[in-house]
Order: sequence, then C-alpha cells, then structure tokens
Amino acid sequence: QLALKETLFRINQKVMAHYEARLRQAPPGQAARQYLENRGITPATLDEFHLGFSVDQWEDVVGFLKQARISRQAALNSGLVVPRKNQSGFYDRFRNRIMFPIFDINMQVAGFGGRVMDDQMPKYMNSPETPVYSKTRILYGLHAAKTHCRNAKVVHIVEGYFDFLTLFQNGIKNTVATLGTALTAEHVRILKGYAPAMVLVFDSDAAGIHAARRSIKTFLNEGVDTRILILPTGDDPDAFVLKHGPDAFLDLAARARSVMPFLRQVAMDTHGSSVAGRARVLADLMPYIADIQDSALRSLHVNELAETLNIDEAAVLEKVREQVIKSK
Ligand code: GTP
Ligand code: MN
Ligand code: MN
Ligand code: MN
Ligand code: MN
Repeated sequence: QLALKETLFRINQKVMAHYEARLRQAPPGQAARQYLENRGITPATLDEFHLGFSVDQWEDVVGFLKQARISRQAALNSGLVVPRKNQSGFYDRFRNRIMFPIFDINMQVAGFGGRVMDDQMPKYMNSPETPVYSKTRILYGLHAAKTHCRNAKVVHIVEGYFDFLTLFQNGIKNTVATLGTALTAEHVRILKGYAPAMVLVFDSDAAGIHAARRSIKTFLNEGVDTRILILPTGDDPDAFVLKHGPDAFLDLAARARSVMPFLRQVAMDTHGSSVAGRARVLADLMPYIADIQDSALRSLHVNELAETLNIDEAAVLEKVREQVIKSK
C-alpha cells in the first residue's frame, strides 16, 4: 500500500510537469494562458501553483505514461486515464482543460482538477478517489496557506480554485478551498490544527447558501469559532476581490456574524420578533442545537438563545429534549 501511494505520487508529479510544459507550448497552450490572464492570474501565481493544460487529444497522457514506462495498472490507479469500453486500451480523463494540481499537506500531488475554457459541461472535473486523493479530506491550497493560517489565527474557507487563487494572489493567504464539496468534519478537524477561528465564505447563489447551511452543523459540532460571510448578490470571493479589492473583502469578513447569530438573524428576518415569530425562530434553530454532541457546548448555546429571544431557559431546554427524542 505504501509502495502504491509512492507510485501514485510519482505519476502525479510527472504528469503535473507534463501539463505545465503543455501550457507553455504555443500552440496548444496559448489559449489556456490567455484564459488565465483574462481571469487575472499572474505568471507568478501560475508558477507557484503549477497550473497546467491538458491538450485536446485522447491519448496524450496515455502516451506520456507509456513512454515513462509506467505500468498499465499504475496508470489506471492514478485516475488520469480511463479504460475504453468494449475494447482494450485507455484514454485521457482530462482533455482540453486548464489543470490545477491538488497538493497534500506534504506538497505531494494528490490529484487534479480541470476546468474547460468555455461554457461546456461539466465545467470542472476532479480526479476520482484514489489511495492518495480523498475529497472529504483534501483542502485546496492548504500546503501554501498553512503558515499564514497559523500566523493570522484564522482561515478563510472558500469554494473554488479561482476563489483561492485570487485571494491568495491579493495577499489574503490564510485561505483554503473545499472544491465545491460540502465541508466535512474531517476538513474542520484538519483546519483546527492550523487556526482556532474560521470564516466560511460561500457564493451568494442558492447552491452556495445551501452549502453554507449544511456546513454549519459541522462547525457547531466541532465547537469552532466560525463566522459566516455571504457576499453581495452574484459575487463569489474571486469576483468580489477583482471588483472591490482585498481590503473590502477583509472588511466584510471582519463584520461577518458567528454561526448562531447568523442563523438567528436569518430566522428572525423570516419570522419577525413577535411572540409567535420568536417561537418559530426557536423552532428553526432547534435542529442545530439538538445536533451538538458536547453537552456543555449545547448548554451554552441554549443559554445564549434563551437570553437573546427572551424565553425562559427551562422552556428552551425542554424543546431541545423533544428535538433530541424526535431525531433519534
Ligand atoms: P469559476 O470562477 O470559473 O471557477 O466558476 P464558478 O465560480 O461559477 O464556480 P462554482 O462556484 O460553480 O464552483 C466552485 C468550485 O466547485 C469549483 O472551483 C470546483 O472545485 C467545484 N465545481 C464547480 N462545478 C463543478 C463541476 O461541474 N464538477 C465538479 N467536480 N466540481 C465542480
Ligand atoms: Mn457556486
Ligand atoms: Mn457557478
Ligand atoms: Mn463561484
Ligand atoms: Mn468564480
């Protein structure tokens, strides 16, 4: 297993260099370089994160791996090539895409993401799960961000490659990206090792807000000091920083609400602060509170909620008990 992992890291490293070389060739890399320039990615960022290009051919990486004397089985295990249906041989998984190598914490290449340069679907493709790539554990950019997270004692969590790269390039280096998947407990545990506080920044689109809501239970359960930043309509961190600059972003981040106040505000905006409204607010928040496993932590939230809603704490506790029974 150890040997297999080492083999996969070695293959990924080689193919990363291959994609980088392709990006520098003109053609076929010209259009890809132009695309990255149009998106504001500087040559220095491109080098630092080893961005590359997979050409529009079916067997470019297949041929490269063959020439590098990589066994068919190892090539298959890497996920970079896919077996052909109904016949022998492989074809390249990533074709005609901007390539983003995904590094693990030890700077080894765990996998890749690839983006089309137009509006074809799917917009992004990622490596499949392999012995070295697990999407529930990997955080894009952490290898470069970790010392900055330690120093700043806070980490910004964003959705995508471009969100990460634009923030990093603009000096907001205490940032990682989840690559569109919901944040897992494992992600949060890993990040806790680098910073005690987190700012969750998601796109202001429906998918982003949905993802933020799903992540909230994870944060509450892990007892992390977390703030939720929903950007103005239509912007993701990349677009926002390109338009308004890094200082405006940091301003918003500093003013973002903690998880519970965030949820409370969302509920109060919906239900109002009448007696009936506050009862509904309580009901909305109940699933989140009942889900907290640590009883001391749960009790602190009950206490705070009772105070802010001006409801008797014993009554809130009773609701929590009902909810816990309901969800069992
Ligand atoms: P870009 O700015 O060009 O990245 O587009 P976007 O901001 O509209 O990207 P979006 O917010 O939709 O996606 C954020 C992140 O989710 C991306 O960086 C990817 O990691 C991931 N993602 C988005 N679309 C797909 C997809 O079709 N397939 C996969 N596997 N991941 C995706
Ligand atoms: Mn999105
Ligand atoms: Mn989108
Ligand atoms: Mn986005
Ligand atoms: Mn974007």
